[in-house]
Amino acid sequence: MNIMMMLIAGKRLYGDKIEHVKETQKFREAVTGWFELSGAANVEYFIPLLRILDLQGVMKKMKWVTEVMEETVQKIIKEHRQEVIGKRETMIDSMLELGKKESEKYSDIVIQNIAITLLLGGSETSANPIEWAMALLLNHPDALQKARAEIDAQVRNQRLIKESDSIHLPYLECIISETLRLYPVAPLLVPHESREEISLGGYEIPKGTMLLANIYQIQRDPEIWEEPMKFKPERFKDGRSNGKWMAPFGMGRRKCPGEVLAMRQMGLVLGSLIQCFDWERLGSEPVNLSEGSGLTLPMATPLEVMYRPRHIMTDVLLQV
Ligand code: HEM
Repeated sequence: MNIMMMLIAGKRLYGDKIEHVKETQKFREAVTGWFELSGAANVEYFIPLLRILDLQGVMKKMKWVTEVMEETVQKIIKEHRQEVIGKRETMIDSMLELGKKESEKYSDIVIQNIAITLLLGGSETSANPIEWAMALLLNHPDALQKARAEIDAQVRNQRLIKESDSIHLPYLECIISETLRLYPVAPLLVPHESREEISLGGYEIPKGTMLLANIYQIQRDPEIWEEPMKFKPERFKDGRSNGKWMAPFGMGRRKCPGEVLAMRQMGLVLGSLIQCFDWERLGSEPVNLSEGSGLTLPMATPLEVMYRPRHIMTDVLLQV
């Protein structure tokens, strides 16, 4: 969330050094509320009468969530317009600059909606696979050790892993790919709609049909993947799985525009966690990998683990 908000507006939402604590807290609550409401199958969304009655207060909460997000982002746009226009390199500043020539295309409403879309689309989506990856690694300590050995050899415990290390950490990338194969953040991607009548796999699909792509199933198809249910990062080594059907970021024109950023963020965060801390399961039982329901395929039981700073990383951690 901090990475996205820094990129969009040059602000942080979490941590010690945040400005406007109360406002930020409210905004964070709104973002969390948005994910909760969007992930739940509320009957109010499907039955208009219930929407009007709103017995469970779902619509009222959604209204509050939307208002808080819009008001906060509008306030940020105003601050940037008045104070620092053109001086900082944030996305809002770039769009305000472009708006000087094409004001309709870059109206405040357009900027607000792009900012909110990126903030929501680019936060939980990258955080969620990191939790799955840690859970999988705790159940496969050999893979965890291998990833750590790769990082130690590349970075040598003198500093924290950084973005430019990623090209020298192929095994870490294999772990992320294997995690996204087994637990894709959006198992049915997002709903699409046929613009015209089409014939597909023997089915006649009328124009205007909602289409869901079950990539969860495709990515576990035994005809494509050997031992599909097993966590085997090595299957991605040296491009071995190139050309196999896998689409955790979607496909085609509406494919996720944040893929490259997400892969880097996940490598950096997961790599830092592996580099800096020793990890242990809470008991002798493997971590429970059951899936919950929600917008972004959550773990049924949120991951709880024991961790402690690695002795050899103490100096580096003290400097952070
Ligand atoms: C691991 C992390 C991520 C995953 C798995 C992911 C996955 C997806 C998927 C499956 C879609 C829908 C594709 C489709 O329509 O079929 C999507 C759309 C989108 N994603 Fe991501 N995403 C991730 C990170 C990000 C990040 C970091 C950003 C922002 C920088 C982002 C911004 C968006 C936006 C704006 C769309 C809508 C694109 C459109 O409809 O044209 N995503 N993403």
